[in-house]
Amino acid sequence: MTNIFLSYARGDDVQRNDPATSWVQRLARDLTAAKFDVWFDRLSLPSRGLTFHQEIRDAIAACDRLLLVVGPQAASSEYVQQEWQFAWFEAEKVITPILRQGDYPLAIPELALLHAEDFRDDSQYAVHLKELIRILNDPPSTLGKLIGVPSLPAHFLSRTDRLIPLRDAVRSGLDTAAPFGGTAARQQFHGIAGTSKQVGVHGMGGIGKSVLANLLAHDREIRKAFPDGIVWVGLGSVPILADLMRRVHKDLGGDGAFATEHEGKLKLKELLADKALLLIIDDAWRREDVDAFDVLGPRCRALITTRDAGLLTSLGGTHHVVELLTDAEALRLLAVAADKPLAELPAEAHQVLQHCGRLPLAVALAGGLVVAGTPWASLQKAFERHKLEFLENEQSAEPQHRNLWKTIEISVQALPDEEQTRLVELAVFPEDEAVPEAAIATLWEQTGNLDDLDTQQLLIKLKRRSLIQVTASGTADSSSIGRVSMHDLITITASVAPSRCMSKSRRWTTSC
Ligand SMILES: Nc1ncnc2c1ncn2[C@@H]1O[C@H](COP(=O)(O)OP(=O)(O)OP(=O)(O)O)[C@@H](O)[C@H]1O
Ligand SMILES: [Mg+2]
Repeated sequence: MTNIFLSYARGDDVQRNDPATSWVQRLARDLTAAKFDVWFDRLSLPSRGLTFHQEIRDAIAACDRLLLVVGPQAASSEYVQQEWQFAWFEAEKVITPILRQGDYPLAIPELALLHAEDFRDDSQYAVHLKELIRILNDPPSTLGKLIGVPSLPAHFLSRTDRLIPLRDAVRSGLDTAAPFGGTAARQQFHGIAGTSKQVGVHGMGGIGKSVLANLLAHDREIRKAFPDGIVWVGLGSVPILADLMRRVHKDLGGDGAFATEHEGKLKLKELLADKALLLIIDDAWRREDVDAFDVLGPRCRALITTRDAGLLTSLGGTHHVVELLTDAEALRLLAVAADKPLAELPAEAHQVLQHCGRLPLAVALAGGLVVAGTPWASLQKAFERHKLEFLENEQSAEPQHRNLWKTIEISVQALPDEEQTRLVELAVFPEDEAVPEAAIATLWEQTGNLDDLDTQQLLIKLKRRSLIQVTASGTADSSSIGRVSMHDLITITASVAPSRCMSKSRRWTTSC
């Protein structure tokens, strides 16, 4: 039996000829009669407050499909958005939208390309119900596997206006790409009939490039377009290219048996020649590192993220820039990161936002401090007191960097000294590499006498505060939370912050 999670906004749930009864209830009844198991009554949840509860996540995770009743209220509802976003990006569920009110294209842009049965006219209900039942019984399409793709942040903004053009750019020309041989097979990065096979994303550190690339990787339309998988390669400033190539080769079913980068490139080219795959090259610093992965077959595409716009210019292809959040986005991110409904954010939250400078990393960290129990007013005061002087920092010209560093420093200093020390110790691991929990446990056992449980608890705490990211290990080991990575801006700030009061000769000082 197919399990369906029915997502809707109460405000859209009107039965035109009989306002007292629920249209959604009628739909649920009819689908149940058609042998679907329908989960829809989220209002009956005992702890259904205003935030996104575990019960909802569990219910969505247990369903086969999410049926979304689209209307103006659903399009603007935070709850509905959390439901479909969780289903789409994280729980890998098929979403079937239906239009109850409003117009085409659907008011939820991410879903606008999906077919939505038209349920606006009640006199046509039976016809559309029959078609909906047929659609719901269709087997779901094959999705490309996510290979090495990090987990999404616990709370995320889908940043639609950037995601959709990126999705279009990445898929462009795919339909015309010949699967095997011919001219198309000889095309490498630069494309088919004028279409580029690589798409670049640039923007300053902490602006959300990697999260955007990650959202794209999780997008079902992208996963349908690349049935052989979405492969993530994190480069960073000093990548060990041969190791990364070996990992990709093995992950795609090869033997990874090559000694040099040159050999690796040839073998990867051979392997990808007939695959439909998206390669995400995250955090590129140098042209030659990107060139090492110039291995794409005609049905492959590459997405490259970098802080360096010049690097993308030298590569050619289409470019997208990630800019600061809008005020509205920053507010929404602060609400989700603080685990509070938007409407309940106090006036101080707006002032906190001003200090964060609309930078996602800074906003996420500020939200993490609230989750950790810091009252809004104290947070605001901390920002006001904390006057940083950036003396010779090459990034100091940008006011948003000052905001970022200030937020990172406040977040680090909100931890007890011992925990700050543990966080700083994570800098011993190679930059940009996700470290297994077990390796951290070994380190912290030596340095801080922490046992496995202490380590796990501290990692969970750091994750909740957005100071680290955790990627599920993908193994059956349920005792591990996964692999851990830390944003390099946090590594740098965390390393400097605790000692800054002792050494005034640092390249920047604070008013400590
Ligand atoms: N869309 C988003 N939703 C929620 N949080 C986000 C989003 N974008 C960014 N963040 C927060 O900001 C942090 C930094 O984002 P991200 O790692 O994507 O930056 P970046 O642009 O890739 O930086 P860098 O150039 O240093 O690699 C994330 O770890 C997350 O906490
Ligand atoms: Mg990044």
